[in-house]
Amino acid sequence: MARSAETTRPGPAPAGTRGPMSTRPFRVVRKHRENGDTVTLALEPVDGVPLPFAPGQFTMVYAFGVGEVPISISGDPARPGQLRHTIRDVGGVTHALFSLGRGDLVGIRGPYGTTWQLPEAAPRSGPLRALGGPLGGHPMDVVFVAGGIGLAPLRPALLDVLAHRDRYRRVVLLYGARTPEDVLFARELEAWQSKVDVNITVDYAAPAWRGRVGLVTALIPRAGFDPEASVALLCGPEVMMRHAASALVHRGVAAERIELSMERNMKCGVGLCGHCQLREMFICTDGPVFPYDRVEPLLALREV
Ligand SMILES: Cc1cc2nc3c(=O)[nH]c(=O)nc-3n(C[C@H](O)[C@H](O)[C@H](O)COP(=O)(O)OP(=O)(O)OC[C@H]3O[C@@H](n4cnc5c(N)ncnc54)[C@H](O)[C@@H]3O)c2cc1C
Ligand code: FES
Repeated sequence: MARSAETTRPGPAPAGTRGPMSTRPFRVVRKHRENGDTVTLALEPVDGVPLPFAPGQFTMVYAFGVGEVPISISGDPARPGQLRHTIRDVGGVTHALFSLGRGDLVGIRGPYGTTWQLPEAAPRSGPLRALGGPLGGHPMDVVFVAGGIGLAPLRPALLDVLAHRDRYRRVVLLYGARTPEDVLFARELEAWQSKVDVNITVDYAAPAWRGRVGLVTALIPRAGFDPEASVALLCGPEVMMRHAASALVHRGVAAERIELSMERNMKCGVGLCGHCQLREMFICTDGPVFPYDRVEPLLALREV
């Protein structure tokens, strides 16, 4: 899908004279433990200048003295004064971020990258424009498919959809976690249930668990949405996205109406260093959100 310059360029320089590479100090104002290895940090800019972003974008987060990593924004796009990141402790830098407390500082660059293309947003380019935006002028269904920490990058898009709920028809969330204890945003998921068809499944559970056990892809064939009038947003481990996208196509969703958020190691975040290269694309500037028809041939290949 050809994307407009507006959606593919790195995020705006935050304050007047700053360049897109400059790091700004942000203070941790709240820390919420989501599960055993994941926290959500609420951050506010020390200079007081808000950081507008669009759902799907990420920032480069610098743990002072340790290193810098790309982390998707998990906050509410309607609240640019507060940045939220949900971080899973997997290594050196994420452990340092996981261990921060209220009042600590981090460095933030960005926001960077492409955004989820929601159908109501009067698409500027790509297949939804070709379809005249919402199909025939009618609202569309939106299907979110998340695996593990992948729910975090989808949260801003979900909040955006909830804020404009009347612009969509059915909204379905299919979410897979390792265990019931690993489910992210548990209280919010409950609250969303009145407006969104929330379906949770886990890989393993104690006998007391009354919910579903199994792969998130197994939910796709029977989920309540119209494949011919749906967009699907996917985020999670690559193998999960590959199987989920293929199940969606099998159900009848057009490949160009399926979007997924890709991850690779990053250094610069702005298309200079080549660390995030995926064949001819840079994940940091051409992505992280891609239409499935663009990355499908690459997902099938290992080590690309
Ligand atoms: C666009 C983008 C958005 C991201 N959003 C989030 C997010 O919202 N929350 C979150 O917790 N993490 C997110 N990540 C992943 C995060 O950047 C990595 O976990 C982090 O870079 C690991 O750094 P580390 O120093 O803690 O661990 P390292 O010591 O560098 O690595 C620890 C382990 O994680 C693996 N790893 C490292 N980087 C990545 C990566 N980018 N993708 C997959 N595996 C990796 C390594 O191979 C190794 O096995 C995102 C990555 C990208 C590219
Ligand atoms: S991280 Fe440097 S080119 Fe993408």
